[in-house]
This record gives sequence, structure tokens and C-alpha cells, in this order.
Amino acid sequence: MTVLDFLSASTALPEAYTRLSMTDMEDRVRRLKQQFGPSLFIPGHHYQKNEVIQFADATGDSLQLAQLSAQNTQADYIVFCGVHFMAETADILTGPEQKVILPDLRAGCSMADMADITQTEKAWEALQTRFGNTILPLTYVNSTAAIKAFCGRHGGATVTSSNAKKMIEWAFTQKERMMFLPDQHLGRNTCYDLGIPLDQMAVWDPIEEKLIVEDETKEVRVILWKGHCSVHEKFTAAHIHQLREEEPEVKVIVHPECTHDVVQLADDAGSTNHIIQTLKNAPAGTKWAVGTEMNLVNRLAQELSHISVRSLNPNLCPCLTMNRIDLPHLLWILDSLNEGDLRHQITVEPHTAEEARWALNRMLDRA
Ligand code: 13P
Ligand code: SF4
Repeated sequence: MTVLDFLSASTALPEAYTRLSMTDMEDRVRRLKQQFGPSLFIPGHHYQKNEVIQFADATGDSLQLAQLSAQNTQADYIVFCGVHFMAETADILTGPEQKVILPDLRAGCSMADMADITQTEKAWEALQTRFGNTILPLTYVNSTAAIKAFCGRHGGATVTSSNAKKMIEWAFTQKERMMFLPDQHLGRNTCYDLGIPLDQMAVWDPIEEKLIVEDETKEVRVILWKGHCSVHEKFTAAHIHQLREEEPEVKVIVHPECTHDVVQLADDAGSTNHIIQTLKNAPAGTKWAVGTEMNLVNRLAQELSHISVRSLNPNLCPCLTMNRIDLPHLLWILDSLNEGDLRHQITVEPHTAEEARWALNRMLDRA
């Protein structure tokens, strides 16, 4: 057996779980949760499937889940229903005795993978040569622990989509310039909202290893990493134009991971929590098209009977990695735990964790 065979055999869902009925799996998860009691904590991100979210002890956006992880000192096991960077964050913010588990190890994030530490170190060196010691690095929490640690050791911080404005304002009290990883769209949209003109924002291309500056006569205040979310990039200006032509009364609300033109055309933009709160409080009878992940849009459409909710992209936009976490994987992981087999534990190496914690705490202290 090769190492790859061994790895996939130990992380692949056993066949038996694919033959169980939904009700059977639900009953078993319910029983196991009761059995574990407070020693088990299941946080679930808003993008998770209903079959999973029904068992979450707490649901939230990235900021809320980071805060909850930091506050939870009781649970021995945190079974994180979200993606890899969220489980890493939970491991960094919880005690050394607490074990964080990701039900399916394939639940990564393509955006987080767009900035690796070697590329970032190279970019930093080039940018220091060009701008000197004038840059503060900030990273969206949708990044690896190594990138968070990089920001931590250079005096920077993490941000989420709900506190990006506040954190960018803080960054400019520390240094003249800011580098924002890995999501260029959240960085651009937030800086623009803060009044920074687009021509003062440059883009670092990690593949070409070069800084793309629109207008060399303008001062560069913001360096955006050339990364994006493949789910949110699927909402386009054309979707909004078509919708407004056909049904001008429909309001558009999108996540700030969408491109700048989409956010500018939308009626409102904000984190998943902002989207949920806005729609819950929307006047009865109003119609909404939402630019964010499909599971959340479908859930809002089902739960909010006072308004009409649909996806801004008629083909819907699933996050394939978020969707890897399903009921069979949740049950398998809990069954294994119950048999004393700690599967899919996510651990961040202590030195990286310490530096990443600096970056996370600078955010949590201001959140
Ligand atoms: P928020 O939960 O911060 O809105 O982020 C959305 C997202 O893309 C998480 O991966
Ligand atoms: Fe990553 Fe985008 Fe999926 Fe969020 S929605 S986990 S940013 S790929």
C-alpha cells in the first residue's frame, strides 16, 4: 500500500455509511450527541447543509464561529462543520486539551489555497524593497494558519467580512500602507467603502510575482493579493441587469467576496450574518435576490415566509468544499470518537499557532 493509498483509505468514508437511511443517521447522531453531552461541541457555518446544520450547537458567520471557539473551554471535542481554515482557527483559539475535528478532510477552501506562505514571503520581500517598512499585512480569516502567523509576526491581524472595515481603519493607524490577503474583492470593496480610490489600490500577482499598478503616477496605499472566491465570482453584473429589467422591484443583497462591479450595483452587501439579519428584518412582501452560497440562500427561502428569497445566479452557487461535510461523515466521525478513535483531528503546529493567535487576538480584541 502506497502512502497515498493509506491516506485515502484512512480518510475515505466507509461504504456502510453510504447505505444508511437519513432517518437512521439522524437518530444515531441524536443519540451520540446526548451521550457526549457538553464534552462535544458542534459549531456550524451558515453555508453548511441542512442535514448537518440541524445538529449544530451554534451557527454563525466566520467571526461568530471564531468568537465561540475562543469562548468554549468546556468541550473536549469540537466537531467543526465548516472548512479547514475554520477548524484551524478553532484549534488555535482553544485549549491544548481540546481536540478539533473536521468531519471530511477534503473540506478545504480554494480561496485560502490561493496564498501560500512561500509566495507570501517572496511578495513581502519585493514589497519591502519597493516601499520600505511602511506596510501592515492583514489577512481575511479565509487563509491558512501559516498566513495568519505571517500577519501576526509582522504586527498585522486577521479580518472577517463583518469587521473588515474596522480592521482596515485600524491598519491605517499603524502603517501608511496595507497588504490584504488573500481575497482581492473583500479588500477592494472594503477599502473603496472607506473612501480609498481604486487607482490607489495595486494587485500583487503571486504567479507572475509582480505588482500590478493601474496608474504609476498615483500613490499605492493598498496592495491586494490576487485571490478570489470561486463561488462568489459566479454572481455577475449581467445577473443584476437582467433581474432589474425583468423585476425592478427585487432588491439585491450580496456578500463582499463578490466582484467590485457586483457589489456596486447591489442594493446592499455584507457578511453572511448581515445578509441573514437584513432579510429577517425586511418589510413583509419584499422580494430579494441573494448573492451568496446556495445552502444559505435555500435555507432563507424556506424559513422566511414574510418575504420572497432567491439566488441572484439562477444556476445557484454551491461551495463544493463546504458541501463535503454531510450527515454520513458527521455520523462516522462521532461513531469513531465513541469507539475511542480520534479521526480527522486538525492541529496547528505550536509556533505557527502562537503567531497566528497574535493576529486573531488583535482582531478579537477589536471585534
Ligand atoms: P462569512 O461567514 O464571514 O460571511 O464568510 C463567508 C465565507 O465565504 C466563509 O467561507
Ligand atoms: Fe472558500 Fe468561497 Fe467556499 Fe467560503 S464560499 S469556503 S471563501 S470557496
